[in-house]
Amino acid sequence: MAQLDENKLNTLVGKMLGDLGGAFSVPTTRLGLRLGLFEALNDGGPAKAGELAKRAGGLTERYVREWALAQAANGYIDYDPATETFSLSPEQAMIFAMKDSPVYLAGAFDLVAAMIEGEPKVENCFRTGAGVRWGDSAGCLFCATGAFFRPGYVNNIVQNWLPALKGVEDKLKSGGRVADIGCGVGFSTLLMAEAFPNSHFVGYDFHEPSIEEARRHAKAHGLAERVSFSATPVKEIKDTGFDLVTAFDCLHDMGDPKGCARQVRRILKDDGAWMIVEPIAGDRPADNLNPVGRLYYNASTMICVPTSLDQEVGEGLGAQAGEARLSEVIREGGFSHVRRATEGPFNMVLEARS
Ligand SMILES: C[S@@+](CC[C@H](N)C(=O)[O-])C[C@H]1O[C@@H](n2cnc3c(N)ncnc32)[C@H](O)[C@@H]1O
Repeated sequence: MAQLDENKLNTLVGKMLGDLGGAFSVPTTRLGLRLGLFEALNDGGPAKAGELAKRAGGLTERYVREWALAQAANGYIDYDPATETFSLSPEQAMIFAMKDSPVYLAGAFDLVAAMIEGEPKVENCFRTGAGVRWGDSAGCLFCATGAFFRPGYVNNIVQNWLPALKGVEDKLKSGGRVADIGCGVGFSTLLMAEAFPNSHFVGYDFHEPSIEEARRHAKAHGLAERVSFSATPVKEIKDTGFDLVTAFDCLHDMGDPKGCARQVRRILKDDGAWMIVEPIAGDRPADNLNPVGRLYYNASTMICVPTSLDQEVGEGLGAQAGEARLSEVIREGGFSHVRRATEGPFNMVLEARS
């Protein structure tokens, strides 16, 4: 047996302290987000616990003080011991109080909670090899998924990702037809629709409650005329003649991604483009043993692989499939050209054409 190395042990224990601190912060951070404590601190400026409790709508000071000290220990808010006031720095505000900032992370905390709630079902799947139906996942998974991806979409889809595709932005400006497959609660569909008023958009997802939520969002944004949502599995989409098909963070969740690619080829015009946004990943697992890959592999174990294994074929690509494997799947669906159009720290954007 290998010799125990005290230094390595101490380093690992130190790392565990940080990791567990992060894990322990999940419930208190979610409470603070739901109770509006981060926002109250951001909007009203530095405050003592009593003032913060009042600002957040009359909460109990004793709880708010303990919460605020926990967040100060987390490093998520600042604490001035001389005045006993708490405050939010501009950087902390971007993460906890500004919903449209590219690094607003509330959704990530909700995803952790959904993964923990989903544990018993996934544990059982390890034994049986079965999957977990997307609709049977933990209650808040759908909103959490939408909230997790939204900041990336708000800051990238229109500004960076669509312009990286050949001729697509011009087509959408003049008027095109777009299908957003696996659209979930529809944030991506509505962002595109808002930016391109001459185009028409249909969001498809097989999860009825997500589609209902997407329809509510469309109405609330006054977009219901040009945007429709349909509770349809990708393979059952009947409409054809789309100029653009988009797939945001969903291809790897599908049971039959090759079948999906064939279907996209069928519903696209011959000169149409398919934009596939997938988690960033290297082609070899060893390339992904880093902080971003760590998030994705954990989420993939608890969410992406179970939902794919529940569907027909059960390909189980996983959230770290990598460009080579994804391109192979897309090519097998009948696309001759696949390229990485652009990328960000969390996503790669592939463009496929026939
Ligand atoms: C990780 S979520 C991403 C949702 C949304 N695109 C977003 O970025 O927020 C994956 C979505 O794919 C949908 N999905 C998975 N397999 C599908 C299929 N075969 N047909 C239609 N939708 C599917 C799920 O219902 C879920 O909404």
